[in-house]
Amino acid sequence: MPHAQTVSGKPSLSIIVPTFQEAENLPELIERIERVCDAHGLKAELLIMDDDSRDGTEELIAALQKPWVRLVVRRENRGLSAAVLDGFRLAQHEVLLVMDADLSHPPEKIPELLDALCAGADFVIGSRYVAGGTTDEDWGLLRWLNSKAATLLARPFTSAKDPMSGFFALRRDTLARAASLNPIGYKIGLEILVKCGCRDVREAPIHFSQRRRGKSKLSLREQLRYLQHLRRLAVHKYGDWAHFAQFAAVGFSGTVVNLTVLTVLVWAHAPLRLSIAVAILVSMFTNFLLNRWITFSYARSGSFWGQMAGFFGASSIGAGVNYGVTVGTLWLWPALERIPQVAAVIGILAGLTFNFFMSRHLVFRKPPE
Ligand code: GDD
Ligand code: MN
Repeated sequence: MPHAQTVSGKPSLSIIVPTFQEAENLPELIERIERVCDAHGLKAELLIMDDDSRDGTEELIAALQKPWVRLVVRRENRGLSAAVLDGFRLAQHEVLLVMDADLSHPPEKIPELLDALCAGADFVIGSRYVAGGTTDEDWGLLRWLNSKAATLLARPFTSAKDPMSGFFALRRDTLARAASLNPIGYKIGLEILVKCGCRDVREAPIHFSQRRRGKSKLSLREQLRYLQHLRRLAVHKYGDWAHFAQFAAVGFSGTVVNLTVLTVLVWAHAPLRLSIAVAILVSMFTNFLLNRWITFSYARSGSFWGQMAGFFGASSIGAGVNYGVTVGTLWLWPALERIPQVAAVIGILAGLTFNFFMSRHLVFRKPPE
């Protein structure tokens, strides 16, 4: 197939397919890719990036004896996205195209994706959610909802309708624009879309078929990793503002913790002053844990107790800053004495900002690379 002499003037293509136990699907996949490339005079190679499936994949590809089909058996650093990134490194051709092995993505759409790239797109998606795109009926409400929610969460990063798709193509030089790609989770397409700064993103409608053979490999755990992935993309795109937003969200959760603890203690007839003090301490502690675990997760390797002391210390000074700014605002602007809440909000923001910078630069320091 993909003979050089049939080349149609279109760029040559490296098709990268991550696989884990897809031996049953590979014959049909390869046959359909071959047919479509022949029909359109496309020069292509197929890189099957297999995570040591031991399900007959190796024997099958060896027996096929097709020089344009290459199987790479991976034994380390397993995972869909890591497999795709390895495939990019080995790819020989100008256009990189990624698709699943289970025939959910129709190979017949490959020429359309390629045409969009030739027409100037940075990134092309085989999309379920543009006009003309469809999914099999028996998709199940739960999977549909899940997919919709995940797509919505990606909204701040891209306006593409189906950025979660595992069927996409881009040029090699577009890929080179990313400083580094982090293959956490399985949304490698979204990662590239954001980190390569793709502006002209186009979507070709596809029919996403239900897999007929083998089973899905994407666990709930992978789905949860997606949240972590989004957080990293936020830091990539918004820098310190993303950290600040997380810090503020943690602070808000601390308010809820504080009020809950206070309510419970008062209800249990604990002395009021003690209850107030305990509520503050508990909420400081949960804030500390969440900031260590989420906001400044890069500093998790630092000393737990040292960071805790630093955080409590910084927050206490922050409380002083809050008090001072609130009182100072009222002094500067006595008219506010009738609505001291306004001064309090200014004080809270000042305390929050102070705490943030102390935490960011002193308490949760980035470990040296
Ligand atoms: N090498 C390797 N390693 N391949 C993997 C791994 C892995 O750990 N896990 C899955 N794959 C391969 C599968 O063999 C298949 O070819 C492809 O990745 C997609 O895996 P599925 O298990 O079929 O995933 P899915 O159908 O649930 O999810 C697909 O659709 C989602 C949108 O609904 C994927 O395309 C997702 O990327 C996409 O977001
Ligand atoms: Mn699938």
